Amino acid sequence: MRALTKGIMLLGASAILPVAAVAEDHSAPNGEKEANWSLVIHGGAGTISRDKITAEKDAEIRAKLTQALDAGEAILAEGGDAADAVIAAIMVLEDDPNFNAGKGAVLTWEETFSLDSSIMEGATRNAGSAAGVSATKNPILLARAVMDKSRHVLLSGAGADAFSQEQGLEQVEQDYFATPHRVKALEAFKLRMNAAAKGSAKAMGQDALGRDWRFGTVGAAALDESGNIAAGTSTGGMTGKRWGRIGDSPIIGAGTYADNRSCGISATGAGEYFIRVGVAQEFCTRVRIAAEVSESPPSAETVQKTADAVIAEMGALGGSGGIIYLTPWGQIGYAFDTPGMYRGMASSAQPKSVAIYGDE
Ligand code: GLY
Repeated sequence: MRALTKGIMLLGASAILPVAAVAEDHSAPNGEKEANWSLVIHGGAGTISRDKITAEKDAEIRAKLTQALDAGEAILAEGGDAADAVIAAIMVLEDDPNFNAGKGAVLTWEETFSLDSSIMEGATRNAGSAAGVSATKNPILLARAVMDKSRHVLLSGAGADAFSQEQGLEQVEQDYFATPHRVKALEAFKLRMNAAAKGSAKAMGQDALGRDWRFGTVGAAALDESGNIAAGTSTGGMTGKRWGRIGDSPIIGAGTYADNRSCGISATGAGEYFIRVGVAQEFCTRVRIAAEVSESPPSAETVQKTADAVIAEMGALGGSGGIIYLTPWGQIGYAFDTPGMYRGMASSAQPKSVAIYGDE
């Protein structure tokens, strides 16, 4: 069954943006699962529209999203682990310069790269995150090392870099992450900021979080054949970030959450607003309570409405972005308030699909 909702919602005081959301329901009416495994990914949301993307770039992005799904599917279809599938999918996107994670990350105000990542497993609610790291080639591997090999959930900065080296993760020079389009984006950002208010906090907040921004954070959520859910997120953050700014991506409960009782979710967007709402945990908690109160799995429509409501709540504060999610009952979906979101889904019950624009 496929449920598609589209509409208009009021964002903040005056802005009205189209909302696109799609839910795939692979659960049987009695709540038994039809999908043995499922996978959903994103490569960021934002001002992504047909007039801004060439046909070649459109095809390139779709091919990379498909490759990320293939990498996760290869693990899940063999009965592999959800966290392994999440990491495999995210690494494909981290290694591709089109996305704001790993190679292709945005630059900080100081013209450096500062990377954030997180992963969570739904069976144990064990989690690991890294914030503000500078040399790990694939930051999602560092998040997993924090989860599996340390007593902690979140490591940051120089300490996280040292832990990464100790764990034997591949280290690269900062130049590895650099791409010409991100260098140009920082130059343009600095010009705007300097013209606006010589870097005043107010002007920076308005521009850095403005709706014209393109968020390229990547993420994935997976449900494996054992019924375990995992979710992960990786990002370079926001162009021109400074003062050690950290967004939602490494914050468990904001950018990432996984709980076998309810959902796996990864977010992309203006991280400050996702932190303030606690988007990832808010969504999972609402889904869990819906299931507990009715003593049955919520319908795909209920889950999708919940996703839309959480995005609307974040948008009402002035933020913008999107989420991908899946549930233990086989539902897979997206919700976003931006013109587009790079995204894809696959499961044992359906052929894989990828999409970019809000009207797909
Ligand atoms: N959502 C990514 C960030 O705000 O850093």
